[in-house]
Amino acid sequence: MIEIDQAIFKGRDFISLHDFSQDELSCIINVARELKAQQKTGRPHPILQGKTLGMIFTKSSTRTRVSFEVGMYQLGGHALFLSGRDIQLGRGETIADTARVLSRMVDGIMIRTFSHQEVLDLAQFASIPIINGLTDLLHPCQVLADLMTIQEHKGHLAGLKLAYIGDGNNMAHSLLFGGAKMGLHVVIASPPGYKPDLGIVAMAQADAKTNGGSIEVVDDPLEAVRGADVLYTDVWASMGQEEEAIVRKAAFKGYQINSDVLKKANPSAIVLHCLPAHRGEEITDEVIEGVQSVVFDEAENRLHAQKAIMALVMK
Ligand code: CP
Ligand code: NVA
Repeated sequence: MIEIDQAIFKGRDFISLHDFSQDELSCIINVARELKAQQKTGRPHPILQGKTLGMIFTKSSTRTRVSFEVGMYQLGGHALFLSGRDIQLGRGETIADTARVLSRMVDGIMIRTFSHQEVLDLAQFASIPIINGLTDLLHPCQVLADLMTIQEHKGHLAGLKLAYIGDGNNMAHSLLFGGAKMGLHVVIASPPGYKPDLGIVAMAQADAKTNGGSIEVVDDPLEAVRGADVLYTDVWASMGQEEEAIVRKAAFKGYQINSDVLKKANPSAIVLHCLPAHRGEEITDEVIEGVQSVVFDEAENRLHAQKAIMALVMK
């Protein structure tokens, strides 16, 4: 089932989906599906027995924290929650020193923080794998779980049309990277001033060309949604943008996934949202609770996808 040698993952960081080839991402998803099947049938899989994951959080989290912690437990290891407020990093200790100290004590670090550069710096100074649990720029673990969810529901990934409606944020960026690698046709519809980063769009376009997919950024949500197999949205104001919430609410009016928008998609389309959702803003209650929504399968798959990442890089 898994065609590439899993040894190529050992010791690697998981910071951006762009760092991985299509075969490598397929391999991680296959391992995730295997681990999910083992978990469902009660087969123990203590691949990381005796290992510890340090989890640094300088932003809030429900899914990421719980899935990494439970994932380590299911893999026979242990996870340490390190709040940015409590560790010395929050009082000015450098990321370089934090990286070297933690590297002497734990076997991997998951970090959720604001600055993407901080994660790159952590990886530069650490001698253990660094996993990106969300930055202002990217959310790769979420999109790995998203790709796994789409594959489970649609049977394949290449050739599907994914329409993302909303902010050109960390989710949009990782969907561009992940979609491009896996040969999807990704269309992002965002209002002017809230488009995804041009550099990321260009990198994704180059990747899409190699992998048979395509990348487009448009203004009109209905243009994006037409014939789409997968609809995706995320909050209009991300963590750290709370003060912009009112301005953003006005800017994103019309960028909502509701029943009328859903009708323009392929009738068999599925709806994804990374959660947490702001019902009545980027998505209606009716759609998120509707039969086409797969948001809770998607949330569950964070656990399985991240177990695969940890098992492969920390083994
Ligand atoms: N989707 C996601 O990353 O959720 P949390 O912020 O709850 O971790
Ligand atoms: N774009 C959102 C994603 C949350 C999982 C944020 O960064 O807050």
